[in-house]
Amino acid sequence: MRYQILTAEEAAEYVHNGQNVAFSGFTACGTPKSVPVAIAKKAKREHEAGREFKINLFSGASTNDFVDGKLSRANAVNIRTPYQSCADTRKAVNSGVINYFDLHLSELPQKLRYNTYGPLDVAVIEVQSIDDEGNAVLGTGIGSTPTFAQLAKKVILEVNEGISPKIRGLHDIYIPLDPPYRREIPIYKASDRAGSPTMHIDPEKIVGIVNTNVPEGGSPFAPSDETTMMIGENVCSFLLGELKGGRIPSSFLPLQSGVGNIANAVLARLEANDNIPSFEMYTEVIQDSALRLIESGKCRFASTCSMTFSTEMMNEFFENIDRFHDKVVMRPVEISNNPEVIRRLGVITMNTALEADIFGNVNSTHVVGTKMMNGIGGSADFTRNAYISIFSCPSVAKGGLISAIVPMVSHQDHSEHSVDVIITEQGIADLRGKSPIQKAEVMIENCAHPKYRPLLREYLKMAKGGHTPHTLHAAFAFHETFVSEGDMSKTDFSKFC
Ligand code: COA
Repeated sequence: MRYQILTAEEAAEYVHNGQNVAFSGFTACGTPKSVPVAIAKKAKREHEAGREFKINLFSGASTNDFVDGKLSRANAVNIRTPYQSCADTRKAVNSGVINYFDLHLSELPQKLRYNTYGPLDVAVIEVQSIDDEGNAVLGTGIGSTPTFAQLAKKVILEVNEGISPKIRGLHDIYIPLDPPYRREIPIYKASDRAGSPTMHIDPEKIVGIVNTNVPEGGSPFAPSDETTMMIGENVCSFLLGELKGGRIPSSFLPLQSGVGNIANAVLARLEANDNIPSFEMYTEVIQDSALRLIESGKCRFASTCSMTFSTEMMNEFFENIDRFHDKVVMRPVEISNNPEVIRRLGVITMNTALEADIFGNVNSTHVVGTKMMNGIGGSADFTRNAYISIFSCPSVAKGGLISAIVPMVSHQDHSEHSVDVIITEQGIADLRGKSPIQKAEVMIENCAHPKYRPLLREYLKMAKGGHTPHTLHAAFAFHETFVSEGDMSKTDFSKFC
C-alpha cells in the first residue's frame, strides 16, 4: 500500500483554522467517524491556548454526531452548508454562532466546481477500500464526495472495516462536465448506469489513511401512529385515483420519498396497500421502509444517494447484500437529485412540510418563520421538476397547539407554482388547475384540522382584494398568537377587522 497510515490525531494536523473542509457521505451514512472527532479535540486545544480555530464545513447533506455534533460542541464551525439535522448544530445556527446557508443539495458540487465558495482545502473521505492507483470503493452514502475528492488540495481517507467489501458495484460515480460543455446525463430509467463503480482520487493528494471499524446505521424511526398511517392511506388513495383517471401511466412512474418519520410511514402504507402496483424509486435517500419494499418486490429498483437505515436494518442489508446488487444503485447527489433526470423520468415526488398556507405555498425549514429546523435538502430539487409534486404533514403539531395549515407561510421554500397536492391525515387538497381562492377553499375543507377550520374560513372571508386575497397585518396572526400565547387556536381575527 503506497499510502501512509495515520492516527486520527495526526490526520487532524492537516486541518487548519479558516479552511474549507469537506466531509464525505450523505446523512450518517458514508460520513467519517474518527478524524472529525480529532479535529474537534484540536479545536478545543487551540481555543484553550487562546487561538482561533474554526473551519467552514461542507457535506453531502446531514452528517453524524462525529461531524456536526462534535464540531459544533467544540465551537469549531464558522460556515456550514448545505443541510444539517443535529440538535447542537441547529442550536448554534439559530443563535448565530454558525453561519449556515441553506442550499439545494444537487447544487453544492457544481457550485464548488464553479469556485463559488473558494478552494476546498481538505476533504475527509470514508471509503470501504482504495487501491494504489487511487480507485476507491465508497460506503453507504455518496453525497458530494466525488466532487470533494476532485477539488480538495489534500485528501484524508478513513478506511472503515465495518463496511462489507460486497458493497463494491452498488455505486455509479458520474461527474457531469461544467457549462459550456455539459451534455445530457445519460439516464433514461432509474436503473441506468452512467459512470463507474469506483471513485478516483489523485494518489498524490492523499496525505494518509486512518483505519476505523465503526458500524454504519442510525437510530430507528418513530413507529407509525394513527396520524401517519392516515396520511399514508390518503397518499395511496390519491395515487390510485390518478392511475384510474389515466393521469399516471398504468405502468406507474418512479417515486421519490423525502426524509423523516412521515416519509418512512407513507412508504410503509404503500407497501401494505395491495392496489398500489409495483414501482421504481428515483430518490435521494432510502430509509428502512424502502428496503422492506425492495424485499417484498413492491419496489422493483431504487436509485438513491444513500442508504439511511437504522443499525438493525443496516445489519440485515449487509447480511443479504448479494440480493440487492440488481435492485439498488447509489449515485452522487447531483445525479440522484438532478433536475434534468427527474423531469425526464417523470418522478412523482413526496416530501414533508412543516407548514403550508391556504394558497399552497410550503415551508419545510423554518419553525414559526425564524428558527431553522434542518434545511431544504433535496426537496426542491425534486418538487420543482416533478411529474406530480405531493407534500404531506399532520394537520397539527405539538398536540394541536400549532396548525400546519396557516393563512400565510412564515417562510417559503416551495411556491404554489411547484406544489401540486397537499395531503394531511384529514384529506387531500389537489391544487392543480385551481385559482388561489379555489385552492384556499379546498385546503381549509380537506386538509386543515377541524379545530382550525372556522378560524381559517374567517381569515379567508376577511382577506381583501386581488388575485390572492390577504389581510397582510393579520396574515401571521396564527404565528404571533403562538409566540405570545403558546396556542395558535387562541387567534382572534376580530381585532384586525
Ligand atoms: N411548527 C413547529 N414545529 C413543527 C411543525 C410546525 N408547523 N410541524 C412539525 N413540527 C415539529 C414536530 O412537532 C417535530 O418536533 P419534535 O422533533 O420536537 O417532535 C418535528 O417538527 C419533526 O416533525 P415530524 O412530524 O416528526 O416530521 P419528520 O420527521 O417527517 O420531519 C421535516 C419533517 C419537514 C422537518 C423534514 O421532512 C425535513 O427536514 N424536510 C426538509 C428536507 C427534505 O424535505 N428533504 C427530503 C428531500 S428528498
